[in-house]
Amino acid sequence: MNLTYEVIHDDQIECCRVICNELMTYQKSKATITPELFDDMNFETRLLPSVKNATHNYTIIVKDGDEVIAYVYSNISPKEAYSNDFATFFDLSTVRGDHVGCLSQFYIRDGYRQYGIGSKLFNMSMEWLKTFPDVEDDFIFVSNGNDNALEFYQRKGFIISHDILDGFITVLRNK
Ligand SMILES: CC(C)(COP(=O)(O)OP(=O)(O)OC[C@H]1O[C@@H](n2cnc3c(N)ncnc32)[C@H](O)[C@@H]1OP(=O)(O)O)[C@@H](O)C(=O)NCCC(=O)NCCS
Repeated sequence: MNLTYEVIHDDQIECCRVICNELMTYQKSKATITPELFDDMNFETRLLPSVKNATHNYTIIVKDGDEVIAYVYSNISPKEAYSNDFATFFDLSTVRGDHVGCLSQFYIRDGYRQYGIGSKLFNMSMEWLKTFPDVEDDFIFVSNGNDNALEFYQRKGFIISHDILDGFITVLRNK
């Protein structure tokens, strides 16, 4: 493995297309509750709009040679962005500030897991979120069936808050 870590600018997000679509396929394969909701979720419908609409974005890619084998995408957004036609992700009144942080998409390709890449990307993302002192509330949304990720985030200190969409998503928060 010849791994390089790179923080990319928003206008380079295209390089996450393949790996983002891989994440959506992975999540669908794990889900037992309404997996068909993933049918409309892909790079075009999830990552591109998020990057466009968020207030601040932070994306790290990991390459093995020229190939992107992992990425993590976090953002800072107005809390109102989490109450929309799709779902109300959390009770907005439980958030103190105007904005929230979110570790939004995270994927290490099979064969590269369990080597510490995820922990490194997670820590870098948390460090970035901490650079916004006015943002006290950070969220992670895990789709059903992905127990491995759910446990990973809990070991890193996140706490299960509640389920939404009849258990399709579990909401974790930093406090
Ligand atoms: C969840 C995920 C991001 C974690 O990434 P990862 O690179 O496998 O994570 P790490 O290697 O840092 O840590 C995983 C475990 O391996 C252990 N580990 C790390 N380096 C290791 C090494 N060199 N040898 C053996 N074990 C090691 C860690 O201690 C960790 O154990 P812990 O969770 O009990 O602390 C990754 O499994 C993944 O991408 N899964 C598929 C997509 C997914 O579920 N994304 C989340 C959507 S919400």
